[in-house]
Amino acid sequence: MSLPKRRKVRTLVLLFFAITFTTFLFSYTLRDPSIYFFKYAFRLSDNFFSRGPCACRRCIAEPEDESWFAERFNQSIHPLMTRENSVLSDDTFRWWQWLQSERQPANFTEVVEELFQVIPDEVLYMDAGPERCRTCAVVGNSGNLKGSRYGAAIDSSDLVIRMNQAPTSGFEEDVGARTTHHVMYPESAIDLDNATSLVLIPFKTLDLQWIVSALTTGTITQTYIPVTARIKANKDKVLIYSPAFFKYVYESWLEGHGRYPSTGFLSLLLAIHICDEVSVFGFGADQYGNWHHYWEENHLAGAFRHTGVHDGDYEYNVTLLLADNNKIQMFKGR
Ligand SMILES: *[C@@H]1O[C@H](CO)[C@@H](O)[C@H](O)[C@H]1NC(C)=O
Ligand SMILES: *[C@@H]1O[C@H](CO)[C@@H](O)[C@H](O)[C@H]1NC(C)=O
Ligand SMILES: *[C@@H]1O[C@H](CO)[C@@H](O)[C@H](O)[C@H]1NC(C)=O
Ligand SMILES: *[C@@H]1O[C@H](CO)[C@@H](O)[C@H](O)[C@H]1NC(C)=O
Repeated sequence: MSLPKRRKVRTLVLLFFAITFTTFLFSYTLRDPSIYFFKYAFRLSDNFFSRGPCACRRCIAEPEDESWFAERFNQSIHPLMTRENSVLSDDTFRWWQWLQSERQPANFTEVVEELFQVIPDEVLYMDAGPERCRTCAVVGNSGNLKGSRYGAAIDSSDLVIRMNQAPTSGFEEDVGARTTHHVMYPESAIDLDNATSLVLIPFKTLDLQWIVSALTTGTITQTYIPVTARIKANKDKVLIYSPAFFKYVYESWLEGHGRYPSTGFLSLLLAIHICDEVSVFGFGADQYGNWHHYWEENHLAGAFRHTGVHDGDYEYNVTLLLADNNKIQMFKGR
């Protein structure tokens, strides 16, 4: 704005306040009922300008003390890895290395440096504030999505987070068509389109080497099982789940239940930390108590509920508690 213009605006603003104030005083001295109007107007404007933690109707990060949620939620731990937060405490590093221990792990610091020469080193999504309303759909792979017709609701969210296989083609009506974030690990990796962010959950140093390789030379073809050598994914959009956040999810939210959290639970906690409103689809069993994937016909393929690695029941209980506390909205399907 040019200087004379700015002056004009300032004069107008001053004039407005002067008039409002004198009218207010005048009506007050006259004990005019219109004072209530002003009181009301001031209260309204007060509410209007008092800034909540986000711009949605409901915010996950609503300040509250001593609640079940507040005791666990720690917003200062970033869910995604950067060069800076990749420096892990001995304690965290030891815990993370124990998840899928490697006989001869490469030098973690050097691998991280290589990684950030291939993918961007950015702090993303940590922009919570009164102006932001980011809605997210976390879409699990449960058979309860079949026939749910949740597709449109899922696609209407700002972020749509899917995990592992999660095919959409042919299932759009129930599961939607958009994917902004696809959470995976090397052993579950699939090709993505250019607009989707690959979110890698690393369980070992080799997983970080694998993503570098899979995006470039394709030399790594094996972890503890054969893995895809190359993946189609936009390397400018690759994100890495932070090992420190991983540990926080396990300790604060699962209180050490299971060996480590499932991809679904890790994705949910990611959403809770980067979104203002979270809707959850495709978690849990279907109406018959079957645990299977929505793209599978076989209702008996329920082996993954008790894999011995995840405590599915405990995770589901925490998920329900998040819903009871109005932190997420659960869509239970059929
Ligand atoms: C949250 O996490 C940070 C970083 O790990 C830690 O320093 C802080 O004590 C934690 N806050 C709470 C309330 O646990
Ligand atoms: C890993 O590499 C870094 C940088 O090259 C080096 O400073 C560090 O000592 C190495 N760590 C181990 C455990 O060898
Ligand atoms: C994918 O997106 C990037 C920008 O993020 C662009 O540079 C690249 O050309 C795109 N690739 C394809 C195949 O569309
Ligand atoms: C889950 O919650 C139910 C009901 O509160 C409880 O009976 C059950 O023991 C809980 N399961 C786990 C694994 O904590």
